Amino acid sequence: MRATVYWIEGDGIGADVWKGARPVIDEAVRKVYGEANSIEWKELLAGEKAQSETGERLPQETIDALRNARFAIKGPLGTPVGTGFRSLNVTLRRTLDLYACIRPIRYFEGVSSPVKHPERVNVTIFRENTEDVYAGIEFNAGTDEARRLIAFLRDELKADVDPLASVGIKPMTERGSKRLVRSAIRYALDRGLPNVTLVHKGNIMKHTEGAFRRFGYEVAAQEFADVTTTEAENLPGRKLTIKDRIADAMFQEVLIHPEQYSVLATPNLNGDYLSDAIAAQVGGLGLAPGLNQSETLSFYEATHGTAPTLAGKDRANPGSLILCGAMLLKELGWNEAGDRIEGALSRAIANRTVTEDLASQMPDAKTLGTRAFAEELMRLL
Ligand code: NAI
Repeated sequence: MRATVYWIEGDGIGADVWKGARPVIDEAVRKVYGEANSIEWKELLAGEKAQSETGERLPQETIDALRNARFAIKGPLGTPVGTGFRSLNVTLRRTLDLYACIRPIRYFEGVSSPVKHPERVNVTIFRENTEDVYAGIEFNAGTDEARRLIAFLRDELKADVDPLASVGIKPMTERGSKRLVRSAIRYALDRGLPNVTLVHKGNIMKHTEGAFRRFGYEVAAQEFADVTTTEAENLPGRKLTIKDRIADAMFQEVLIHPEQYSVLATPNLNGDYLSDAIAAQVGGLGLAPGLNQSETLSFYEATHGTAPTLAGKDRANPGSLILCGAMLLKELGWNEAGDRIEGALSRAIANRTVTEDLASQMPDAKTLGTRAFAEELMRLL
């Protein structure tokens, strides 16, 4: 089988990490399947490369190709803070309706971690990607829009909003909550994982976060009744337990009892915080892969940024993109090739032959450049 995968190089270290990642992914497929399976890579332009070649940061051609694609992977894309153009990442998520942001987070033996038992962490976060305060509907204090909205809230809805406030809107829908939880449940069932936890702040935000919790339990009861149970019911013989935790308690739980959680389903903002916090627990963001998914497209992305100080220097760690590749191969059903990549990365880290970001935190490590690290991984596949 030949699978078509679109790829976007990305800004900053994007070119470096791709030079490390693609040969490893191709070699894993070749080693396991010979000529029987292969990836046909097709490049799409976005970010600085698109700007210099086409005059646009996100050309329509790229969006059109992604609308019809099944698989894509991207490197990091730069975004200015506070001012300037809107994040391309957010634009892509909204335009393509990539509603689930999926982050598997696990520990690799040998990586320096701030906690005593990082190996107990093995969790996949499903973060809703299109709604919540992240929808970008906000109005600056003192503008005509803010004044009109606040006047409506005060006069019509009797809501006590300070007339001088900036205001943001937190839209969350039944459809948005349910499709996210549905995909988290399917993921857990497909992999034989024991639980899905709905993370919310429903004690305070009852009609948004509280509704997320309610809709989550409804999906489980309506669509997966024969295979799921709730923590409270604890019915025997069910494969999957659905539980829920208030977001602040969840941050404690992942530190104290991480082994009790296999999949977390969260609204947008909580998921953003939790993803980075749990990734830090196992030794940082550099290695975590990410997947943004719509009903039709699986769009993998390196979770780190553009690391401009390392760009073009053969120093970046390509691990995040390489693990994206492993996830993609498993989604294609090429599980053995995906496992080989994860195994090679585990062994390279255990052998302490790593890129400088990891080496600087390991005693007696040997520092490799991006390309040499990729060659080492190919040897270990
Ligand atoms: P960053 O992830 O680029 O850098 C944070 C730190 O981690 C730096 O010290 C950097 O050198 C290091 N680092 C990151 N990736 C590394 C790798 N693969 N190997 C070795 N070291 C690595 O985050 P920062 O500085 O906050 O953002 C820089 C730019 O990247 C911004 O424009 C931001 O918007 C963008 N960004 C894009 C993301 C994406 O496209 N998914 C995600 C995060 C940030």
